[in-house]
Amino acid sequence: MSLVVRPRRLRRTPALRRLVADVRVSPADLVLPVFVKEGLTAPVAIPSMPGVVQHSRDSVLRAASEAAAAGIGGLVVFGIPSVKDARGSGADDPEGVVQLAVADLVREVGEDLVVMTDLCLDEYTDHGHCGLLTPDGEVDNDSTLARYASVAVAQVRAGSQVVAPSGMMDGQVAAIRAALDGEGFTGVPILAYSAKYASAFYGPFRDAAECAPQFGDRSAYQQDAARPTSEGVREALLDIAEGADAVMVKPALAYLDVVRAVAEAVDVPVAAYQVSGEYAMVEAAAAHGWLDRRRTVLETITGIRRAGAGMVFTYWATEAAGWLTEG
Ligand code: PBG
Repeated sequence: MSLVVRPRRLRRTPALRRLVADVRVSPADLVLPVFVKEGLTAPVAIPSMPGVVQHSRDSVLRAASEAAAAGIGGLVVFGIPSVKDARGSGADDPEGVVQLAVADLVREVGEDLVVMTDLCLDEYTDHGHCGLLTPDGEVDNDSTLARYASVAVAQVRAGSQVVAPSGMMDGQVAAIRAALDGEGFTGVPILAYSAKYASAFYGPFRDAAECAPQFGDRSAYQQDAARPTSEGVREALLDIAEGADAVMVKPALAYLDVVRAVAEAVDVPVAAYQVSGEYAMVEAAAAHGWLDRRRTVLETITGIRRAGAGMVFTYWATEAAGWLTEG
């Protein structure tokens, strides 16, 4: 055969493949989500996320040191209070678990990586929704904004280096920016979970963070998977107009078109969150011997980077960073 065009030529050897590889994942691109639960004295396993735990205040410091040693770019901290109420009081309590843990983490690893906080109410409310409820049980956008503003200030006072609002209330970025600026925290960035979809892939997280909605679901505030890609772009552009310094698409796997479209439309950093269900799916299949765990993990992260995300939030961050540096 006299084929002239042979794409396989560049795939023949490992050295050639390495030379032409375009999408590179480095540990600095990865962000590890961590859960810290009030009152724990030892870590507690999360059955639906094998390998992931609810941390005690001590054990999260060990995980953070390992993550820093592996060279990852950041941590995002989720707090689980022992007492929940309708307004999520634990979220902005200066003595609340997330504030205490963040202060410890910043002291421990705050110069080696970026310590971020997830900014939402669902881990702190007894009803499990991301905002305050009206008397007839709807999540009230505008009264929730004042709560987010207060939570942002509490988190940053505790030392949070980036706040990451994930509640999908309209106007949340503007409200948080104004509150932070009002306290003089003009230099603290907001990484907005901008395009966040109402997703079945959050299932295991709700065990991890003990935040399953006690009634209904989040479809009245999180986005609908069946809307066109451009709606995700619109949400990202709105957040940037409100002052977001970086934007996120979440989940990653089922929304890679949104990652791509947002990356092309914006000129701020773009993150994607490989969520709990994406993690659980691979772990479950790997545990059965149905998937090669390491290859699958690295392939999914590479795919998310190729779609256009500069940062990938993933529960595999520390382990994947180890694999990436051992080559
Ligand atoms: C809301 C929040 C959620 C996740 C991150 N932030 C849950 C939700 O919206 O129901 C999900 C993360 C995951 O599934 O890994 N505070």
